[in-house]
Amino acid sequence: KMSEGCPFHQPADATSQATMTSPTGCPVSRDAAAFDPFGASYQLDPAEALRWSREQEPVFFSPKLGYWVVSRYDEVKAVFRDNLTFSPAIALEKLTPAPPEAVKILESYGFAMRRTMVNEDEPDHMERRRLLMDAFLPENLEKHEAWVRELVRSYMDHFIDKGRADLVEEMFREIPMTVALRFLGVPSEDAKELRKFSVAHTLNTWGRPSPEQQLKIAEDVGQFWQTAQAILDRMRDEPTGEGWMYDSIRMHHQHPDVVPESYLRSMMMAILVAAHETTAFATTNAFRILLSNRASWNDICENPTLIPSAIEECLRAAGSVVAWRRIATEDADVGGVSIPKGGKLLLVQASANRDPRHFENPDEFDIYRHNSAEHFTFGYGAHQCMGKNIARMEMRIILDEFVRRLPHIHLVEDQAFEYLPNTSFRGPTSLWVEWDPEQNPERRNRGVLESPTHFHIGAPIKEDIVRRVVVAEVAREAEEVVRVDLIDPYGRELPDWSPGSHIELVSGEWRRYYSLCGKRNDRHRLSIAILREPSGRGGSLHFHETIKPGDVLHIAGPKNHFHLDETAERYTLIAGGIGITPILTMADQLKALGKPYTLHYCGAGRRTMAFLERVERDHSEALTVHASDEGCRLDISTTLSRVAEGEQVYCCGPERMLEALEVLAQNWPEGTLHVEHFSARSNILDPDKEHAFEAVLTDSNVTLQVGNDQTLLEALTAFGVDVPSDCCEGLCGTCEVAVAEGEIDHRDLVLSRAERSAGDRMMACCSRAKGDRLVLAL
Ligand code: HEM
Ligand code: FES
Repeated sequence: KMSEGCPFHQPADATSQATMTSPTGCPVSRDAAAFDPFGASYQLDPAEALRWSREQEPVFFSPKLGYWVVSRYDEVKAVFRDNLTFSPAIALEKLTPAPPEAVKILESYGFAMRRTMVNEDEPDHMERRRLLMDAFLPENLEKHEAWVRELVRSYMDHFIDKGRADLVEEMFREIPMTVALRFLGVPSEDAKELRKFSVAHTLNTWGRPSPEQQLKIAEDVGQFWQTAQAILDRMRDEPTGEGWMYDSIRMHHQHPDVVPESYLRSMMMAILVAAHETTAFATTNAFRILLSNRASWNDICENPTLIPSAIEECLRAAGSVVAWRRIATEDADVGGVSIPKGGKLLLVQASANRDPRHFENPDEFDIYRHNSAEHFTFGYGAHQCMGKNIARMEMRIILDEFVRRLPHIHLVEDQAFEYLPNTSFRGPTSLWVEWDPEQNPERRNRGVLESPTHFHIGAPIKEDIVRRVVVAEVAREAEEVVRVDLIDPYGRELPDWSPGSHIELVSGEWRRYYSLCGKRNDRHRLSIAILREPSGRGGSLHFHETIKPGDVLHIAGPKNHFHLDETAERYTLIAGGIGITPILTMADQLKALGKPYTLHYCGAGRRTMAFLERVERDHSEALTVHASDEGCRLDISTTLSRVAEGEQVYCCGPERMLEALEVLAQNWPEGTLHVEHFSARSNILDPDKEHAFEAVLTDSNVTLQVGNDQTLLEALTAFGVDVPSDCCEGLCGTCEVAVAEGEIDHRDLVLSRAERSAGDRMMACCSRAKGDRLVLAL
């Protein structure tokens, strides 16, 4: 029977599992039937092993696992968001049940682990999470930075002169455990005891342990359970102790109903598991991928402020938690596929992290990627990893110490990487590196130890994600306009970009956006055009007057907020003045695609119009030049009245031109008019004119106060909710958040009138509440 819940169904061929069906009676496709999370291909590279699923069947039933597998970004997010329909109760359930002998062993230790945080349902989960969250807030983590750095240094001192080391053995396995114990406040003599037990869990929970392994694991887990109790009892005698476990004990006294006694012991075990291998594996994976992409490694050695964005890209491309579980509490729908009540789901984060619908060129490792931090390696929503900023801090400091003290390490060639076979935790069991100790920078210059990078707590800040470039050529393109060509300092390829893309040019205090206007097939050169604007904010004047060949500058991007939809039947392109830059790349693309288009280029006079010669040469048939000093201004309303059905209009130019267009096009179907603004209207926050409001976050189940001197984006970031942002001026659309309730005071230039009146989304960097409350799907 073919149920309606199978939009991605592929007919099984006659020879294969024609009769195999899912619990809803859907035929199981050949690929789905073959999927084996313990097989070699998933173990080698889970994202690659599910490429077929991302492309053809993003939600499928796996008969080998007995789970529904979810592989695309949006579907994974939809499940994470809704922790009532998709309960985390099975997150830590043993995939391979314990045999009766193992159960007996556990009973002999009085083992009675209860659900803790990560696998708890509401409302209990959120009540506890809120009470126990304080120590994890960005503002309370800063104090740990200095000792984490000292710890990392002392581990490195042990092997820095050896020339060869297994970094997992020497430090990556050790540091996260030590940090976790110290964060909990466990006294150091007890810490030694606890270390012994922490590693059996991966295999136990997400693996296929053999019957003998099951017994050994049961023994270890039983002892872990007892030791945790003994340590907890001693900690209880110190009412003023410092650390998260002490906080939890105090919360138990204040709110015994919310943090009961039985919870403390379970939590002690659970948090060590949560904090240890996740971070150890993530660090190992990060070093492996960075050292295999030497250009990226070299870039961070030169500029350690890139470390936060590099770590985030490592977590995206090679995360340590690759799949997580949920169970449907009622009949539900995921990406159009019916999941019955009781259906178990495997959300493959590693696959979602490589979904091209969310991450451009997802298979490329790019430490400059602007949205790496949107990976799901830490989960999402109400249960999102509480320790994410601790893990980030450790990984950043470790990397910072390496790029200063051992920038010359490389991977030992031909080493075999082994992985513990399991569905969820991923990282090699060893990582061998080599170097010449004679070349250690500190042998000549102790200064490398003296100025470590200070990292802020939280997701990377966009100001840090910049790439070094060199000015190759500066050429005059028109009166007051210069073209600037940028190349990589080592002659490497620059990132690919699409028509309408821009970069942000950075020099000292100055940052300005410029559209790319070169030829797309030249991967070694990015070109921008800079207009001298004496009345602007100063950036263009500065760049226009100071840039010369050989200068080293920084750029962010390329990014594209002005996408060309290549599926329309025909196009009208309108450029005003320097707005020709993105329009020109669109015209080039449409010509290459053989699409019909007309191009209107308006300016004060021919001498001021950049690239006119090139436009006339390449686009003569489509072009009308409107030079005001020749008396031929563009008549916008006549031009727009000729726009036919199925046609799209793209315009970049001065603000008044865009406003006129937007008014004329207000009744057009959605998606017909596309404009790019050069600059924001004034969005400077004036506390005297603003009022504070409340933001209720439904996915995270919390309520925040947004002060009158604060943007919504700032309030979210301070609470550790990572909302990506870019322009922070309401221009780019990066910080869009979904709004479920409350009237929005829109201040951006991104949303169309229709989108504004729908009232279901807003830009967090500038828009606010009209009333005193907004409910957000975050
Ligand atoms: C939850 C990953 C490090 C504490 C989680 C979840 C994931 C995860 C996937 C479940 C998220 C969800 O269901 O949406 C990671 C990774 C880490 C890491 C990849 C390292 C790179 C840490 C550290 C700590 C920690 C260092 C503590 C010091 C927690 C806690 C939860 C959690 C308490 C439960 C939160 C809740 O259910 O409300 N983590 N984790 N994690 N993690 Fe982490
Ligand atoms: Fe660009 Fe908010 S960050 S619109």
